Amino acid sequence: MASYHIDFEPVGLRGECPAGCSLMDAARQLGVHVVSVCGDRGICGRCKVQVLSGRLSEATAAEAEALSPQELEEGYRLACQAYPQSDCKVRVPRDTLSARQRTQVEGLEISVVPEPIVVPHRVQMAPASWSDLRADSERLVGALRDESQVPCSAVDIDVLRGASGRLRDWKWEVQASVRRGEVVALGPWPTMQLVLAVDLGTTKIASYLVNLDNGETMASKGIMNPQIAYGEDLIARLARAVESPSEAARLQGLVVDGLNAIAAELCAEIGAASEDIVEAVVVGNTAMHHLFLGLPVHQLAVSPFVAAVSEPLDLKARDVGLEIAPGGYVHLLANIGGFVGADHVAMLLGSDAWRGEGLVLALDIGTNTEVALVSDGEIACVSCASGPAFEGAHIRHGMRAAPGAIEAVQLVGGEVRYQTIDGVPAVGICGSGILDAMAALYLGGVIDSTGRMGEHTGVRESQGGREFLLVSQEEAGGGAAITVTQRDLRELQLAKGAMRTGIELLLQSRGCSHEDISQVIIAGAFGSYISVSSGIAVGMLPSLPLDRFQQVGNAAGTGARLALISATKREEARSIAARARYIELNNFATFQDTFAKSMYLRQSGDATPA
Ligand code: FES
Repeated sequence: MASYHIDFEPVGLRGECPAGCSLMDAARQLGVHVVSVCGDRGICGRCKVQVLSGRLSEATAAEAEALSPQELEEGYRLACQAYPQSDCKVRVPRDTLSARQRTQVEGLEISVVPEPIVVPHRVQMAPASWSDLRADSERLVGALRDESQVPCSAVDIDVLRGASGRLRDWKWEVQASVRRGEVVALGPWPTMQLVLAVDLGTTKIASYLVNLDNGETMASKGIMNPQIAYGEDLIARLARAVESPSEAARLQGLVVDGLNAIAAELCAEIGAASEDIVEAVVVGNTAMHHLFLGLPVHQLAVSPFVAAVSEPLDLKARDVGLEIAPGGYVHLLANIGGFVGADHVAMLLGSDAWRGEGLVLALDIGTNTEVALVSDGEIACVSCASGPAFEGAHIRHGMRAAPGAIEAVQLVGGEVRYQTIDGVPAVGICGSGILDAMAALYLGGVIDSTGRMGEHTGVRESQGGREFLLVSQEEAGGGAAITVTQRDLRELQLAKGAMRTGIELLLQSRGCSHEDISQVIIAGAFGSYISVSSGIAVGMLPSLPLDRFQQVGNAAGTGARLALISATKREEARSIAARARYIELNNFATFQDTFAKSMYLRQSGDATPA
């Protein structure tokens, strides 16, 4: 039987598929997870792909309905309707991918020549003897200088504490990790040098263990921020820390313990030990940064929200309780201003948004959403308190993106169609699903532009008010029915309204409109898997052609890794922070008005209500 070679990009999965298979069949065979809300019936329009080369069957009536003439012209097809008739190369937009492996550590893969700040050197020393009575540290520094031509003047005190016995155990042949003239770790030669990158989010922590020799990420892990038990948002946590020094210490301890546990787990995964980590880079918003370092936060919690420090910091990891190599450092990238911190610098670095051409809008969506507008090398940023609704919190049946979470929703002819992660019975709804649900309810006329739920067969009264039934109890595998409540919609409106306000006011500050935007970069675990079309439909995102949007995953994590691997990238981060200008949203006279308008749902992308 004839077969065709199908190449799915940019996921990079390709292989042979028998003739007669649809692109959807081919995607499934090759492990490309394409969204199918309607079960391949050609009615949801969510399996949109772009054919870059090759011949396919004629477009069907369903495709003519779901795709615009321009999209058809540009090679867009519905994967469930299109049948290859030759070898094909197909682009799968991020929007079309299902979220099976969704974690908070996914990000762009990075390729950068390692240019580490901590450099390993093999040192062979002459043993101590009656004819050579130099102290061990002098012997080590001397050998580095004379044998390896490494300018070195100091050995960290904790390294020294363990050095004498080890030098003898290792027969005077060691690997010395030298950072700017100081020995920060010793190991037997050769030892893999590891570094740890951490994106310290308000809700989630993403961490990456990187091999410094080649820049490869060896292991990664995401966990919930253990501080959540002491307040879901920044303000609540800052208030807690301001309350008493012991509460501040508790918050710091929680996050440090969490990081030590992750570091140990990641190292165990590859048969290494935390002590093999010679440096860490931690990025977070200004509040997370200050709580992690035990810095005062009172001034950050009250107007005009001033940081204690904004420049990059190099600290001994032990000074903050991080358990890595004895003399290892933790580097913190610079903060920008207000709550816009080092994580935003890392995001701009990791996504390359800071060098984008034209007018670039960069969004890092989370409990706190940072928005930057980049133009001609100038960067203006704001911070929006979008709250945890996008993470599934404060939503009646909200959950994180895990198997059974509804990740995509559509209303087709008044009937609900949905897709769960891993295709198992629905147990709740995650951020992308709730955004989709809101868009579907709005487009289906179930809610109006104020977000109010009207009369509809799916709407019912419950104790907490009106709610829309997404999944009945029977369908939910015996669990509770899954609904979207009026209160959920209000939470989402607040979240999307806060974000859109930031976008509008930034544009206003430059005298631009959303039509001037040449590229929109969306970072963050939630932002990477939302349907951009749904975001546009409810007015969360500006109404622009879909090809102007790029969803880049955890770019802050990518930026943190770059700053670990490369001294040049670390310098670029410094330069990004220096040129970024923080704008306080409350200073705009139009803030309240813009926020009120941004709460409306509408498709035009204009924040002004109809
Ligand atoms: S899966 Fe193709 S249109 Fe729904």
